[in-house]
Amino acid sequence: MKIFITSCIPEIGISLLQKKYNVKVYNKPGPISRKQLIKEVKHCDGIISLLTDKIDKEVIDSMPNCKVIANYAVGFNNIDVNYAKSKGIIVTNTPDVLTDSTADLAIALALACARRFVEGEQMMRKNKFKGWHPKLLLGMELNNKFFGILGAGRIGSATAIRAASFGCKILYYSNKRNEGLERKTGAKKVMLNTLLKISDIVSIHLPLNIKTNQLLSKDKLELLKPSSILINTARGEIVDEKHLIKMLRSRKIFAAGFDVFDNEPNVNPALLNLKNAVLLPHVGSATNDARNAMSLLTAKNIDAVLSGKTPITPV
Ligand code: GLV
Ligand code: GLV
Repeated sequence: MKIFITSCIPEIGISLLQKKYNVKVYNKPGPISRKQLIKEVKHCDGIISLLTDKIDKEVIDSMPNCKVIANYAVGFNNIDVNYAKSKGIIVTNTPDVLTDSTADLAIALALACARRFVEGEQMMRKNKFKGWHPKLLLGMELNNKFFGILGAGRIGSATAIRAASFGCKILYYSNKRNEGLERKTGAKKVMLNTLLKISDIVSIHLPLNIKTNQLLSKDKLELLKPSSILINTARGEIVDEKHLIKMLRSRKIFAAGFDVFDNEPNVNPALLNLKNAVLLPHVGSATNDARNAMSLLTAKNIDAVLSGKTPITPV
């Protein structure tokens, strides 16, 4: 049976698959073109895709033998899952194994914003540090602040637990109550508007779907306090980015930390000039720990489906 992997993921998963299957890896730099993808998947029984590969109806129709699409990501908004299911194809993702890495990054961004890391770093490199000053780069301490998470799933909860250890009071917005999180952190479930009005730090941990697309619209963003910080390690499309940029520019919020953007990898040039924005190139799961585990999990999911067993993490 044939498997196509759209990029060179860590070796551990590839070598597991090579023991049983005919594996082809696309190993040129950068994402595979759509044309090449459609050509490569033709005779495949399974594929491992990246979040940058748009697996829509056309791509799915071009792989009549495919039984499993294993996405090398926890998010799966790049795949038309319903259409895949209608064709009998199982879609899997990589939850759990990247939770801690992503939560670490959300906290890193929160601290970078609160303590103005990038401004300080750039000051040093430009040789502009002229000595200790009582008012140099004043920021915000985390202790006793309201930390609001949007989405209290795996990554949201792991982020909240970290924030609680810094002394933050946790608020969360979620469809479902998360009693485990409430027990561990004293978190309180609140309405979205309440969370946005009260929180000192807001961190987004929702999947992107029709309900969450542009959830933080202009009106919602306007509820944020001028002293607040917004962190997004989920998907750029959840936020009205253009309006957020306006608010950052006019200091209607203190700062924002972005690991994800609308229309990646293109970044709105206006963001590049904002001192109160911290920008990262979508690296939430970018640790050797998470990426090796993601590689192994995608491989095990593929193997399970192709050997007639239940996959570990179907979506
Ligand atoms: C990264 O954004 C992922 O969904 O895994
Ligand atoms: C700061 O460096 C201090 O000593 O307070």
